Amino acid sequence: MATERTLSIIKPDATRRNLTGAIVDRFEKAGLRVVAQKRIKLSKEQAEQFYGVHKERPFFNGLVAFMTSGPVVVQVLEGENAVSRNREVMGATNPAQAAEGTIRKDFAEDIEANSVHGSDSAENAATEIAFFFSSDEIVG
Ligand code: PPS
Repeated sequence: MATERTLSIIKPDATRRNLTGAIVDRFEKAGLRVVAQKRIKLSKEQAEQFYGVHKERPFFNGLVAFMTSGPVVVQVLEGENAVSRNREVMGATNPAQAAEGTIRKDFAEDIEANSVHGSDSAENAATEIAFFFSSDEIVG
């Protein structure tokens, strides 16, 4: 099995409800290690760029407004098959469809305020990690 890295974002609905530690606990119990982390407030420009692939989608403006509405915690998670393992722990995008025991099932408010983001492929993970972190900020 390959050791991988993935980009995680703990979203404003979760930081607002003081759930950062509870979410990190889920990652760590799943064998994912936090090798970089910072709490930041995304600018509108950053959020628009990060979610640029979705700019034609009807939810784009709402998503940008939500992601800039409060602090987020951006993280690099490392572990075996980290991309897919993280997405398993997160659960489905829509919490109404998320499996029992997943972060989104247990914590998300709705499809927009869904508590966490995780990269969807190793290739996107590399791009997304570089969006937020320089290599000297990642300590494995
Ligand atoms: S897709 O089609 O698979 O690319 O879309 P998906 O991965 O499900 O969603 C991409 C991101 O958009 C968010 N999203 C929404 N926000 C608000 N309203 C609606 N209806 C909605 N649908 C999807 C979703 O939470 C994803 O955000 P990230 O941060 O990537 O998880």
